[in-house]
This record gives sequence, structure tokens and C-alpha cells, in this order.
Amino acid sequence: MTNSLQTQVPARPALVVPEMPEWPVLSAAETAELKERIKTLLREQDAALVAHYYTDGDLQALAEESGGLVADSLEMARFGTETPASTLVVCGVRFMGETAKILNPEKRVLMPDLAATCSLDEGCPPEGFSAFCDAHPDHSVVVYANTSAAVKARADWMVTSSIALPVVEYLAARGEKILWAPDRHLGHYVQRMTGAEMLLWDGACVVHEAFKASALERVRALHPEAAVLVHPESPDAVVDQADVVGSTTQLIRAVIELPNPAFIVATDAGIFWKMRQLAPHKTLIPAPTAGEGATCESCAHCPWMAMNALQNLERVLRLGDREIQIDPAMRERAVRPIQRMLDFARERGIGGGASRLGRA
Ligand code: 13P
Ligand code: SF4
Repeated sequence: MTNSLQTQVPARPALVVPEMPEWPVLSAAETAELKERIKTLLREQDAALVAHYYTDGDLQALAEESGGLVADSLEMARFGTETPASTLVVCGVRFMGETAKILNPEKRVLMPDLAATCSLDEGCPPEGFSAFCDAHPDHSVVVYANTSAAVKARADWMVTSSIALPVVEYLAARGEKILWAPDRHLGHYVQRMTGAEMLLWDGACVVHEAFKASALERVRALHPEAAVLVHPESPDAVVDQADVVGSTTQLIRAVIELPNPAFIVATDAGIFWKMRQLAPHKTLIPAPTAGEGATCESCAHCPWMAMNALQNLERVLRLGDREIQIDPAMRERAVRPIQRMLDFARERGIGGGASRLGRA
């Protein structure tokens, strides 16, 4: 069986991680006033707001209050196709806006900051990826949602963390060999769980790769009552300590449904807003990202997700200048792997409808 250490996998390109943006602190009255202005702009422009669980809590609250959605990548993609709004405003990272545009070419898709990318997307340049695919024509190409439109255009399937396991299980049962990109940790987790024959691209998420296994062991010893929740973009040694491994929605659901009074959470801290909203009596402990001390604090926060704020959301609604554009020829190719995933999810009842997380 092939494994993640294939020599033919291109080396990781150098990555520039942006400084964490610092937004001016607003008073409660200023925040409320800004939110009202945004709600008015959304109504005036027939726009729906969809936000990821990693964005600022004020944005998540606003998405819900304005009739939009807070969700994981899979549900964000679906929402754009379900809402009748003619404009989608996507608070998240660039691939989420691009996926919305690819699925809804007739809609206007705005984002507060078009520079909000993702280390996985950045670490998988289309030319190198295409050459990698060319070198393995006997493999089915499965890409994670966290990729550019150009990379998706080269893929057979797109998956998110909610659906990666059943899709790969299905392909493996058909005897297909898989070329997987870009997250090698998620890919290795999927490979271990399904036994599929997979060639893995060498990409990683800078946020999840920072979780430290040895420090996590100490935090677990301090909190024996806590269940450990891990997003599968984390390294194996962290995943191996988890009680639950899953997508953002699956981790939030675990906090609601498991009897434990406390949870050690190895994913972006933005997720705590939804966890606190739906399970206010549970104790949430960030998994450690630094140091060896048992009490070390996590700083797990995606710098690209943090580029979304009420201020630049209001700005893009006023100016309409940060719009996602996708070349039509590329869109025609990139929509196929996404649509294949959505059809697969619908046929098997994965996500959507009643399984979408509600409000408190
Ligand atoms: P989910 O699809 O689980 O929300 O994950 C998206 C992501 O970017 C995780 O880092
Ligand atoms: Fe990308 Fe990681 Fe940020 Fe998710 S948390 S958007 S995978 S950099």
C-alpha cells in the first residue's frame, strides 16, 4: 500500500502567514448600531449572509439574526443553492466564496476581504498539482474543499471533512486508487479509517498542525472528566487522543450530545461561540498549541478567518467591490466535483435538513 511519504509528492511551497488582524474594539452600542446598518443593507440588496463557525461571534450572531446561516463548509456550500437571495455574502475564507460562486454563477458573491485565503489552498498551487495528477493517471482525484477553483477543476471529487470518510469508503469499495490533496493529516486519517490506497499531497493547516500531543496529554490528565474533540486536520498524535474526531459541525454536536461536563477542543477557537450558544453549561478547554506546561493556553485562531469583521462586512455591502469572479470555462470544470459531492450527500442523507445545527 502506498503511504504519505511518497517521494514524488512535490515539496511544500513557502507560505506567508499574515499577522493576526487587529480590529478596533467597538462598544456594545456601536456594535448594535453597526449590526442594524448591515441588516438594512442586506435587505436592500436582497443579500443573505453565510458565516463559518471560525469567524468572529458577532458575525455568527448577525448571520443568524438576519436569516442567514452559520455552518461548516458543506452546509455553507448547500446554503447558497437553497436561499432565494440574489447576493450571497460569505464570511469565511476565499475557497468558501469561490465554491458559492461556482455553484451559483448567476448570483453575486461578496466577501469582506478577498485576501482571506487558507494555508491549505496556498500550499497547493494549480500547476504543481496538475503535474502531480498527470503523473498518476490511474488515480481518482479527491480534493478537500480548502482548494482553489483551478485545483477543483482538475478533480473528480471534492469533499469536506463532514463527508470525506463515506466518499473515500465508497471509492475504495469500487477498487479505486486515490490521489488526495491537499491536507496530509486529514488524508492520513481518512486512509487509516478506510484502508483506501491513497497518495497524499504534502499540505497542512497552520492552525491545526500547531496542536501539541505531549501538552495535550498533560491537559487531559488535569481534566479526566473532559472528552477530547479533534478536527482531523490535526496531526496523528493529537487525533489518536481524541474521543471524537470530526468536522466543525460534528464537534459542536458532540458538546451538545455527550454527557461529559467538559471538553478539550482541538480546533479554531471561533467554534466556541456556537458551542457556548448551544451548550452553555458545558466547560470548554482549548487544546494546547504551545509550551509543555499543563496550563498552557491555546491561541488557535486562523489569521485568514480573522480577516472578517463587522467593519469590512458593512464596507463591502456599501461598495460592492469585493466580488468573487470565476472564469466560466474553469467554473464548468470545477462545478463537477462539487456537484458530485452534493449529490452523494443528498442520496445518502448526509448533512442538510434536520442535521443542520440550529440556534439556542
Ligand atoms: P469544516 O468543514 O469542518 O467546517 O472545516 C473547515 C476548515 O477550514 C477547518 O479548518
Ligand atoms: Fe485553512 Fe486552517 Fe484556516 Fe481552516 S483553519 S481556513 S484549514 S488555515
